[in-house]
Amino acid sequence: MDRIRIRGGKQLNGTIRISGSKNASLPLMATALLSDQKFTLHNVPRLADITTMMVLLQQHGVEINSAAGENGHSHGTTLTLQTRKITSTTAPYDIVRKMRASVLVLGPLLAREGQAKVSLPGGCAIGARPVDLHIAGLKAMGAEIDIDGGYMIAKAPKGLKGARYTFPKVSVGATENLMMAAALAKGTTVLANAAREPEIIDLAQCLTSMGVTVEGIGTETLTIHGVDRLKEATHSVIPDRIEIGTYAMAVAMTAGDVELVGGRLELLEAAAQTLRSAGVSLEPTEKGFRVRRANGQLHGVDVMTEPYPGFPTDLQAQMMALMTRADGASMITETIFESRFMHVPELARMGANVVVHGESALVRGVSKLRGAEVMATDLRASVSLAIAGLAAEGDTTLHRVYHLDRGYERLEEKLAACGADIERLKG
Ligand code: EPZ
Repeated sequence: MDRIRIRGGKQLNGTIRISGSKNASLPLMATALLSDQKFTLHNVPRLADITTMMVLLQQHGVEINSAAGENGHSHGTTLTLQTRKITSTTAPYDIVRKMRASVLVLGPLLAREGQAKVSLPGGCAIGARPVDLHIAGLKAMGAEIDIDGGYMIAKAPKGLKGARYTFPKVSVGATENLMMAAALAKGTTVLANAAREPEIIDLAQCLTSMGVTVEGIGTETLTIHGVDRLKEATHSVIPDRIEIGTYAMAVAMTAGDVELVGGRLELLEAAAQTLRSAGVSLEPTEKGFRVRRANGQLHGVDVMTEPYPGFPTDLQAQMMALMTRADGASMITETIFESRFMHVPELARMGANVVVHGESALVRGVSKLRGAEVMATDLRASVSLAIAGLAAEGDTTLHRVYHLDRGYERLEEKLAACGADIERLKG
């Protein structure tokens, strides 16, 4: 298994080009199941999770062609997807267990074919992550769904019907599944207390370009008018806001000065405000924005994860890594996932001072971190250890790099180009 070795103490200086969003790309790719028309998707990042989604879609009958990205640059790809015929309505356990976002095929398959058999994803390192809201929403649209043999067996022989569904809890994935299902349902669907993440807005805009009328885009109430057939469409994936936030934190950690090209500050919302309060300067530039420390020192700030536009759970681990070196203390509260502090014991092995009480972690800044062998159980936890390693004395070796490869396109190349002493050790 590959490892990444980082020799800490180098500032990051230069430019980093931001990739397309993983979490926007996955549902956008699933929309290809809704239509027999061609769908072209630009700015898709080259990541393991994208490959997993391609494999899943291909076994449902989606023809996929992949070409070099827009402007011929080496980042990202352009995918052309077309589903002339659905060849299988089953999403098998072997694929779904690798990536939970596979459940996003449930809504589209059911809407187009009137049936779907999708494996339940099972346990996850960051929390229980049930799919009850996906099921309840589709049932409200007329689906019958049973659980049998670890699979959701869904049927809607007469097609799905528009309905009003109020989410009892905000869910990104369930909102996406229902939006896609609603696109082909008969009549109008109203989704109340829907997620408002930029990835949801991107999906709504893509459905709009496929000929679906979506009202309330960017608000917590989405109204979707179903159509019989979707049109050929082309869409470009938004920049990855979690990658943007991650690199902003890495730069601040090393007291560097980097322009994040393609980085859009407005996608960060609460995370940008939090960084500014912590003493990080974020200044818009023509191509993105520039990150550096405002006046030398980082300050401890309190953070609570919340659905968008609140501080994202996907940046909590990275923010904690940054706060380990801040002046003073920081209280970090995780409200979205119940087991998302798996990075804490690993950061402690590098000399961080963090105490966890229930859903909160108290981080007291220390004057130095020391490199160590570390491993993490999920994508964002892994990258938080890389951030810590960039500022630690000596070598940090990060194990289980496959977590990073799920969500960060060419991480070590991007960091090395800005002066980090980082290398991938094969095998
Ligand atoms: C998406 O996961 C992201 N994944 C996650 O990113 C992200 O952490 C999460 O949203 C929250 O922002 C993708 O977009 C592919 P949710 P998702 O449904 O959709 C509970 C990363 O690192 N819930 O918004 O699965 C759930 O347990 C990943 O890139 C139910 O109770 O998250 C959680 O507590 C990790 N029942 C909360 O809602 C349901 O049916 C929010 O989860 C669904 C969710």
